[in-house]
Parts: sequence; C-alpha cells; structure tokens
Amino acid sequence: MKTALITGGAARIGAQIAKTLHKNNFKIIIHCNQSKDKAQLLCDELNLSKADSAKVVVGDLNNIDSINSIIDSVSLIDLLVNNASVFYPLSVDESNSENWNNILNINLKAPFFLAKGLSHKLTSNKGSIINIIDIHADRPLKNHSIYNISKAGLKMLTLTLAKELAPSIRVNGVSPGSILWPQEGAEISEDQKILMLERIALKRQGSPQDIADTVLFLANSNYLTGQIINVDGGRTLNQ
Ligand SMILES: NC(=O)c1ccc[n+]([C@@H]2O[C@H](COP(=O)([O-])OP(=O)(O)OC[C@H]3O[C@@H](n4cnc5c(N)ncnc54)[C@H](OP(=O)(O)O)[C@@H]3O)[C@@H](O)[C@H]2O)c1
Repeated sequence: MKTALITGGAARIGAQIAKTLHKNNFKIIIHCNQSKDKAQLLCDELNLSKADSAKVVVGDLNNIDSINSIIDSVSLIDLLVNNASVFYPLSVDESNSENWNNILNINLKAPFFLAKGLSHKLTSNKGSIINIIDIHADRPLKNHSIYNISKAGLKMLTLTLAKELAPSIRVNGVSPGSILWPQEGAEISEDQKILMLERIALKRQGSPQDIADTVLFLANSNYLTGQIINVDGGRTLNQ
C-alpha cells in the first residue's frame, strides 16, 4: 500500500480526499491542527475498515518548528496533498503584517517546506505532490488580496517544483471553484450565494468528492506533472 499525507485532512474537502485515497488502497496520514477530535474519529473509521491504515499527525502550519516535526514524524510517503489553508475576508485597508504572515505561512510557506522536507522520502518512492490551489490564483476575489496572492504563489510553487523535482517526483495542482461555503467568520450572505451560483456554467456548487476524484486521478497519472486542473463547473468561463 502507498502512503498519503493530507494536510488539513480532518474535515471538509481534506477529509473527503483522505477517505477517497483510503478506499483506493492508500494508507493515510491525517494532518490536523485544531480539529483533533474529528481527525481521530476519521482515523478510527479508516482503521476499522482496514487495520493499521491510518494515523493522525498534529501541527500548526503557521510555525516552522511544527512543520519540521510533521516532516520528522513521517517515515514512508508516496503522496503529499497540501490541502490546509486559511481563508477570510480582508480589505487591503484592513490588512496588517500579522495577516500577511498568517495567510502566506499557512497557504504557501508550509507547502514549500513540507515539499522540501519530504522530497528525499518522496524520491525514494517515485512519489508525487498535489497542491490544492483555487481558481482565484488567476483571477482575484475582491477583499481577499493576501489569500489571492498566497494561491497565486502556490500555483507557481506547483510549476517550479514540477520542474525542479523531476524526474523523481511529479507535482500537480487542483484548483477548486465553489465547493463548500466558507465557515467561521468568512460566511457569505444568501444573496451573495445566489449571485455566485449564477456565474457557474453548471449552475451549482461542486462537491468535495469532485475534488477528491481529481486528486486520485492525478495521483494515478504517471505521465502528468506540472498540470493544474480547474474543478469549477465552468466558473472560469464567466469570470
Ligand atoms: N471550500 C471551497 O469551496 C474551496 C474553494 C476554492 C479553493 N479551496 C481550497 O481547497 C482546500 C480545502 O478547502 P476547505 O474549504 O475544505 O478548507 P478549510 O475548511 O477552510 O481548511 C482546511 C483545513 O486547513 C487547516 N488549517 C488552517 N489553519 C491551519 C494551521 N495554522 N495549521 C494547520 N492546519 C491549518 C484546518 O485544520 P484544523 O481544522 O485541524 O485546524 C482546516 O480544517 C483549501 O486549500 C482551499 O483554499 C476550497
């Protein structure tokens, strides 16, 4: 069995990626920070269906020491999925250097240093890295400038690592459109939701399974590297 580490794997899209890879014969390392109970529940569920097939690793991706201890805790790895991120509305006027560090650290610095720190272990297994980006890496979402910048950086990180880590490690990305409405301080109004859905060619949100299926496809596509797939129901056709 291959082993996949999924950052932010306890809930929402990350948890669906974990379940889908597990169903397809991967051992799963579920990374979490705050959601320890959810991560443990998911881990127990996966271990119940296949013994010793899942474990939890905890760490704050805003902190380089904790990134390093995540790296140290991983012995074997075939697939790194950089899924964890922070997303909250912030006008340019409201933004300060603390926001900048927080968003850039979690969304961009952590994927870079996880990739760097795990690259030798990934190389020995001919492994791959999949970064979960956002369609707003290309077209900015208003009042989310630092987030947009972090995801644009993550897109370039995907391309630059694909070049530098080849031929041993494949690096690809998935850019979701609207999949799950934001939570905890980033909620949007019902009117905004209707407006957003109107702009999607397929007139509906995607599901976490749509993202997980694309991650699985990239994980299994041995001749793909440096590719970023928009999973957005045609949202970018109308941007
Ligand atoms: N939801 C969408 O429609 C959508 C659209 C476009 C792109 N995306 C991208 O898809 C990915 C998953 O989206 P999502 O909505 O499922 O994400 P999410 O719920 O906003 O966040 C995923 C996880 O990131 C982890 N995280 C946040 N801060 C952290 C920190 N300091 N240290 C470690 N982990 C931290 C959290 O783990 P804990 O809970 O354990 O702290 C959280 O569960 C993200 O990269 C997101 O940018 C999502």
